[in-house]
Amino acid sequence: MGNTNSFGNVPLLKGWDFKPSDYHNSLGLLTAQIENTNLCNLDCEYCFRGGSSSDEKKRFDKEISRSQLFHSIEELAELGVKTINIIGAGEPLLDPAMGDLLKYISSFNITPVIATNGSRITTELIETFDRTGSSIIIKMNSLNNDLQNRLVRRNWFADRRDYGLRLLIESRFNKPSTDYQTRLGINSIVFQENKNEIYDIFRYCRNNNIMPLMSTFIPAGRTKDKTDKEVSMEEFLKIGREIQKIDREIYGINYNRLLPYLGGVPCTQCGKSSLYLTISGDISDCPGQLHTVGNIRDISISEGLRRLRERGSNPEFSCPARLNYWKQIGQLVDLDKY
Ligand SMILES: C[S@@+](CC[C@H](N)C(=O)[O-])C[C@H]1O[C@@H](n2cnc3c(N)ncnc32)[C@H](O)[C@@H]1O
Ligand code: SF4
Repeated sequence: MGNTNSFGNVPLLKGWDFKPSDYHNSLGLLTAQIENTNLCNLDCEYCFRGGSSSDEKKRFDKEISRSQLFHSIEELAELGVKTINIIGAGEPLLDPAMGDLLKYISSFNITPVIATNGSRITTELIETFDRTGSSIIIKMNSLNNDLQNRLVRRNWFADRRDYGLRLLIESRFNKPSTDYQTRLGINSIVFQENKNEIYDIFRYCRNNNIMPLMSTFIPAGRTKDKTDKEVSMEEFLKIGREIQKIDREIYGINYNRLLPYLGGVPCTQCGKSSLYLTISGDISDCPGQLHTVGNIRDISISEGLRRLRERGSNPEFSCPARLNYWKQIGQLVDLDKY
C-alpha cells in the first residue's frame, strides 16, 4: 500500500488531528480512552461493550469511584496526554456528572472527545461542550430510521439522535476554525445491512465537514464471534477503494490508508502513545484488545503504560485487533498486493 504512515490531507477531528511524527516522537502518552458509565439507554445488537443481554448494561459493582477516575486523569495529564476520548462503557451522556468530568479534563488543557449515541444532547450540554473545547462523535448506522431503530432496539432513537445532530450543527461544531478542521464526527459501523448506504453517509459527512469514522465490527462483546452480518476484510477494502476514489475525484482528499477506517482516518487509539482505562479500572490497549495489564487499584498509569509498551506498538496506525481477527478466521488479505 506504500506510504501508510502519512495521513495525507485527510481532515481530522479536533483531538485526533495529530501528525504521525507526534506519535513517533512522543515519550509519554498522546491520547487515552476512558469510560465514565456503564449505563446505557439503547441495546444495540452489535455493542462491543455489551454482554448477551441488555441486563448486562446495568451499573457494575466494581466500578472505580469518581475520585479514582480524576486521579487517573491527573496521571494521564502528567504523562502528556493531549486528548481523552470518553467512549462508554455505556452512553457517556447518561453520567449526571458529565459536565464536571469535561471541566476537569479541560482544566489540564486536554481535549475531551465524546463518543455518544446522540440521544441525550441538549442545548445546555452543548454549552458545556463548547466551554470545555470538546469534540463530539455521534452514532449513525443508517439513514433509514426503521433500520437504525431496529439495530439499537429502540423505536424512538433515530429522531432523538437527529435532533442532537441538528443542535450540534446549529452550534457550528462542524465549522473549521484556525485551530482545527472540525469538532464533529460520525461513527458508522459497516456491515451487511448498511453497506450499500455507507456511500451516502460518507458523502453526508464530507459535504458537511464532519469527520467520518467508519469501520467493521470490533471483535469484542456482541461482535466477538463471526456472524453473517459482518463484511469480510476483502469487501471492506473494496468499499474503501471506492471511497478513496470519491475522495480523490470529488473532494481532493488524497491518502493511501484503507484500514481501519474509511476516508483515510488513522487509528491513533492503540499503540505506544495511547491507552484504555475501563470503568472497572483495568488498563488495556483498546476496546478490541481488552486483555488487561493491570488495574489502577494496584498499579499506576505509568506502570500500565510501561507494561503495554512491552507488548508492542501500532506503527502503521491500523487495527491490530481487526487484523488478528481476520487472520484467525482465514480472511486476511495481503495489503501490499491489494
Ligand atoms: C461503545 S460506543 C459508546 C458511545 C455510545 N454509547 C454510542 O454507542 O455511540 C462507541 C462507538 O462504538 C460503536 N460500536 C459499538 N459496538 C461496536 C462494534 N461491535 N464494532 C464497532 N463499533 C462499535 C458505537 O456505535 C459508537 O459509535
Ligand atoms: S453501542 Fe453504545 S448505545 Fe449501543 S448499547 Fe453499546 S454503549 Fe449503548
